[in-house]
Amino acid sequence: LLTALPTLLLGYLLGSIPFGLLLTRAAGLGDIRKVGSGNIGATNVLRTGRKGLAAATLLLDALKGAVAVWLGGAGGAMVLPGALLGGTMAWGATPWLGLVAGFGAMLGHAFPVWLGFKGGKGVATALGVLLAASWWLGLAAAAAWLLVAFTTRLSSLAAMVACAVTPVLALLGGWKLALFALLVALLVVYRHQGNIRRLLAGTEPRIGRGA
Ligand code: G3P
Repeated sequence: LLTALPTLLLGYLLGSIPFGLLLTRAAGLGDIRKVGSGNIGATNVLRTGRKGLAAATLLLDALKGAVAVWLGGAGGAMVLPGALLGGTMAWGATPWLGLVAGFGAMLGHAFPVWLGFKGGKGVATALGVLLAASWWLGLAAAAAWLLVAFTTRLSSLAAMVACAVTPVLALLGGWKLALFALLVALLVVYRHQGNIRRLLAGTEPRIGRGA
């Protein structure tokens, strides 16, 4: 626990960097939270019409999740006092700490302290943490997302179908990976409550072709 908490915090801090907000602000587009769905994620950045910025948001939001998993798994908590107890460094084989940091990044993205705990939905960050935790699982999640996104052009639906599929597939990688994938999926679905309401009402906007 002494290393898990700092590792969770490390992931949280990485995850809390709101790239969608920072990039659109830097591009002079104002506050992305006043555009479209009000979300800070790549899908909503796409609604500004700036495909490059949306791609950069997807990439950076995914990357911060992956970096959290890598740092956590590599014993990134070693810099924190708890990990140095007894003179032993935490650097080494602690892959489960990578999952802790990855979940921290998800929490940071969804509830960033900098934005009054009102953050994003965690789809891109989930992709990043899954890819870093298990490349085949990340690819499977991405494939499920792409399949649904291209057939329905509903980004949120694609994310939730990927969330439904991923924890089940993750069982192939053991119970720790499956539990991790389940927690990540539950958080993503929890953050999609508004989208679920719009999907059921048939008012969810579709992506692409000027949407
Ligand atoms: O990337 C999040 C996506 O699933 C939904 O985003 O902006 O349509 O609510 P948005």
